[in-house]
Amino acid sequence: LVFFFFLFCLRGFQEGAFALVFKSIHYPGEAVATRRGSPLLIGVRSKYKLSTEQIPVLYGTCNIENMKNMCNSRMKRLDSSTCLHAVGDKAVEFFFASDASAIIEHTNRVIFLEDDDIAAVTDGKLSIHRLERSASDDPSRVIQTLQMELQQIMKGNFSAFMQKEIFEQPESVVNTMRGRVNFENSTVLLGGLKDHLKEIRRCRRLIIIGCGTSYHAAVATRQVLEELTELPVMVELASDFLDRNTPVFRDDVCFFISQSGETADTLMALRYCKERRALTVGITNTVGSSISRETDCGVHINAGPEIGVASTKAYTSQFVSLVMFGLMMSEDRISLQKRRREIISGLKSLPEMIKEVLSLDEKIHDLALELYKQRSLLVMGRGYNYATCLEGALKIKEITYMHSEGILAGELKHGPLALIDKQMPVIMVIMKDPCFTKCQNALQQVTARQGRPIILCSKEDTESSKFAYKTIELPHTVDCLQGILSVIPLQLLSFHLAVLRGYDVDFPRNLAKSVTVE
Ligand code: AGP
Repeated sequence: LVFFFFLFCLRGFQEGAFALVFKSIHYPGEAVATRRGSPLLIGVRSKYKLSTEQIPVLYGTCNIENMKNMCNSRMKRLDSSTCLHAVGDKAVEFFFASDASAIIEHTNRVIFLEDDDIAAVTDGKLSIHRLERSASDDPSRVIQTLQMELQQIMKGNFSAFMQKEIFEQPESVVNTMRGRVNFENSTVLLGGLKDHLKEIRRCRRLIIIGCGTSYHAAVATRQVLEELTELPVMVELASDFLDRNTPVFRDDVCFFISQSGETADTLMALRYCKERRALTVGITNTVGSSISRETDCGVHINAGPEIGVASTKAYTSQFVSLVMFGLMMSEDRISLQKRRREIISGLKSLPEMIKEVLSLDEKIHDLALELYKQRSLLVMGRGYNYATCLEGALKIKEITYMHSEGILAGELKHGPLALIDKQMPVIMVIMKDPCFTKCQNALQQVTARQGRPIILCSKEDTESSKFAYKTIELPHTVDCLQGILSVIPLQLLSFHLAVLRGYDVDFPRNLAKSVTVE
């Protein structure tokens, strides 16, 4: 079984994120597991003394014949020094899980597997294998004893799932891109869409449908999708799309964005589009969910489980997934190559930049200290960052119960300007992008009415800071990805505001994680 697994790893699993455990009726008493990108650990439980606390990694070579010989001989020579078992061949149990919380009721002794480890259990003995050795490899896997309670394990060192999920974003965006973006040759391959690409390229228009945060991910990427696909792109709130009986045709391609994959309105909109024979594409975070099963094809965003009701890491991963789709669609457009390379290089540096934004947490906490007694908070911006304002305002109202509104700065003079005075807290998102000058104009409108804006701006922007009451300075990235960075301070701000106001961040009143009713 281990040999076939090696073959699998050599030939099959070159792409994507996975954590897999295999058993076969042909190999009773054996189990084999591996991971890449997704977490996998092994819990160990035995009443008896274990042969070792540290399992040496057994290395193979990348040649199939060698591998076969190696596996045959290795299986024969598994002994107490190369594997883990209970002394005297006594009983030992192994538990495979993606998270310690799943097994903590059975054992607190765990081995965390590394990417590309292959763990094999044969006749009650556990061995760890790897195809190749690299200089930085740790040559053994240690059994660790977890001291934490179940709740703590799930939240780690964070006080709420939402906070943990915000801080997971440097890794979750990598998992979304893993095996899909090739940074060397600037190509993108979404395995779930590749067989439908011709049909999508021929379509009349793209319709992107979702609710709440998932809808905002569509708003955030609409412009870059229009640019890269050269197709008309409609973004729709699922409930409104259904209320309008929107005309849909068989040459439309309809995207359904949903973290849970179970949102009733989005699911109904999917069924509505299927009846009209449009091609349906799911962008979900939940493998096996209704939306991923019922769509013709799709992309799993691989952000990992999101438990906090307020969606955070799913948003940035949906954002990245939609950008990757645009990049895949534009692969053969000569005129777009420079732009594609610019975006792909932006994607590459995204994790580091997200870390830099997260390092502003203390500053944002201080800001929350100033704002948490306010009744209202406006968030204003335009262009690529309008979605950030909508999403930031949604996060604020959802968990802090403050009134908050995302305002398109271009609409300021058509009404919202009347709200501005010395007292009204306003956050403005002003980035160095094609809307910069127009945003400066809005900034002047606000300051002329004694507004005291808190400005989210680029580090290099000396102009905006002159008019700011306070600034939060962000690293600068390519315009169409800037929204991934600019939303994070607002996620953090809403979290701190909710904590200071004494609310349960993860379970806001009246709301559920999966909205399975219309
Ligand atoms: C966001 O913080 C909300 N919890 C909510 O708007 C959510 O995004 C919406 O209900 C859609 O859920 P879905 O992504 O699971 O379809």
